[in-house]
Amino acid sequence: MSRSAWAAAGVCATGRALPQSMHGSAMRTPARTPNLDPDTLARWVDALPMPQIARAVEHRAAPDGSGKQVPFYRVPMRATAAKAHRDLPPTNFWSYGGVVPGLQFETRSGEGLLVEWANELPKKHFLPIDHTLHGAEKELPEVRGVVHLHGGRTPAESDGYPEDWYASGESRTYYYPNRQDAALLWYHDHAMGINRLNIHAGLFGLFMVRDQAEDALGLPNGKYEIPLVLADRDFTPDGQMSYPVSPDPAAPWVPEQFGETHLANGKLFPYLDVEARRYRFRILNAANGRFYDLSLAGGGEMVQIGSDQGLLAAPVRLKSLMLAPGERADVVIDFAEHRGARIVLKSEPFELVQFRVSAQAANDSSSLPTTLRPVQRIAESTAVQTRRLTLDENLNKVAQSMGMLLNKTPWHAPITEKPVLDTTEIWEFVNLTDDVHPIHLHMVRFQILDRRRFDWFDYMNYGKLRFTGEPLPPEANEMGWKDTVRVNSHTVTRIIVPFAGYAGRYVWHCHILEHEDNEMMRPYEVVNS
Ligand code: C2O
Ligand code: CU
Ligand code: CU
Repeated sequence: MSRSAWAAAGVCATGRALPQSMHGSAMRTPARTPNLDPDTLARWVDALPMPQIARAVEHRAAPDGSGKQVPFYRVPMRATAAKAHRDLPPTNFWSYGGVVPGLQFETRSGEGLLVEWANELPKKHFLPIDHTLHGAEKELPEVRGVVHLHGGRTPAESDGYPEDWYASGESRTYYYPNRQDAALLWYHDHAMGINRLNIHAGLFGLFMVRDQAEDALGLPNGKYEIPLVLADRDFTPDGQMSYPVSPDPAAPWVPEQFGETHLANGKLFPYLDVEARRYRFRILNAANGRFYDLSLAGGGEMVQIGSDQGLLAAPVRLKSLMLAPGERADVVIDFAEHRGARIVLKSEPFELVQFRVSAQAANDSSSLPTTLRPVQRIAESTAVQTRRLTLDENLNKVAQSMGMLLNKTPWHAPITEKPVLDTTEIWEFVNLTDDVHPIHLHMVRFQILDRRRFDWFDYMNYGKLRFTGEPLPPEANEMGWKDTVRVNSHTVTRIIVPFAGYAGRYVWHCHILEHEDNEMMRPYEVVNS
């Protein structure tokens, strides 16, 4: 039986990565035990936890030859158990530092740091490995890990190349120079062929880079700045995570995972007591495959001030905010007009977090400036090269997904994308699939140029790219610096990328983790001129 036989079982018949609003419970993928019905869980009984901050253990010489001393951290990857909800027994997770989300790094632009990432995980995995996937063969150690700092301008040897995984009992020390603007980055596992399972198990955490330009704005800070890590999961009635499998035990990979409950900083249905004033939320979508379409029940407004790679040029008022896996948003919510109210952060049809606004008036000395940080749009004329790259779906004879590819090229084929360091390129993603794919490039930040629909039939049959509409500019909240871009079905999405930073071998991939693990990832190499 093929690994796509899950489709024949009549669930999620196309396996498309639709925004979750299009996934009802009828689309649930099969699980080994019946899942906990989220409606049986009491809502808003646990306080929203704040991620624990990582502490340096000592200072060491920076490996860049500068003679500078930089903080040195040691973070173990280890199994832990934590209560996701008051009424559930502790859930088994894998963690960075014993907490989920993992220990949160706090650093400043240009201030490098060293982390020893120690693999102290058990020797057996607790989620279903598919040994038929490339890079997850039976001969390899079952438990492998390697850490990638998503959004980090990191030298290649510290970037967490998927094949640089190491087994339990080993560790690696990585150097993060952090020569980049203030932004919410995140780190997560990137081990070849099992990274969807490792991240699902809990191997993700936040990495906050701050700078002076941001400090000067007077945005809400301290206890008025709330990190919010969202990730959907399914649970068994005894509180354990349940990851879906195909009907073929020899090939359990599924094309996507969508959970019916949602961890916010590791809790299900948490509440947060807030004062009647402005708060800044630093939001990450850490889900395997779910797109969050965030809104405030009651119709309140959110003001987005930053995206993946930092502040926008100016705030953008929003009724709803779409976040694909891997994307981040920096959002200000003003509760001043909502004294005494209960406001729920939702992603239809799901409720995620409840804000309980104090009945008292609060004084608020924070500000929300009308301009934030200049974002110089990059002229297309500066690009030295344009690459046209397709996103492809492999279908079998009965139109079931066998996995996705980038430019019809598997992972292990020789490197084809070799941009020259300190040059700018345009990458055009031609999405031939029916899915939205969030495409992420390591090491760089980029800008979105436009999205344009084309005739799929003409392309597939005659190889001709015939546009059927005008190029659409990015949304207002996509006009800043990005590292992950939503590439819509049957569109050409163009980005412009300055390859500034470091020469070396990196990767680009779809951030739907099931796709990434099954060949929707390619190496690329920044070369010296
Ligand atoms: Cu979140 Cu390869 O990245
Ligand atoms: Cu990344
Ligand atoms: Cu994808």
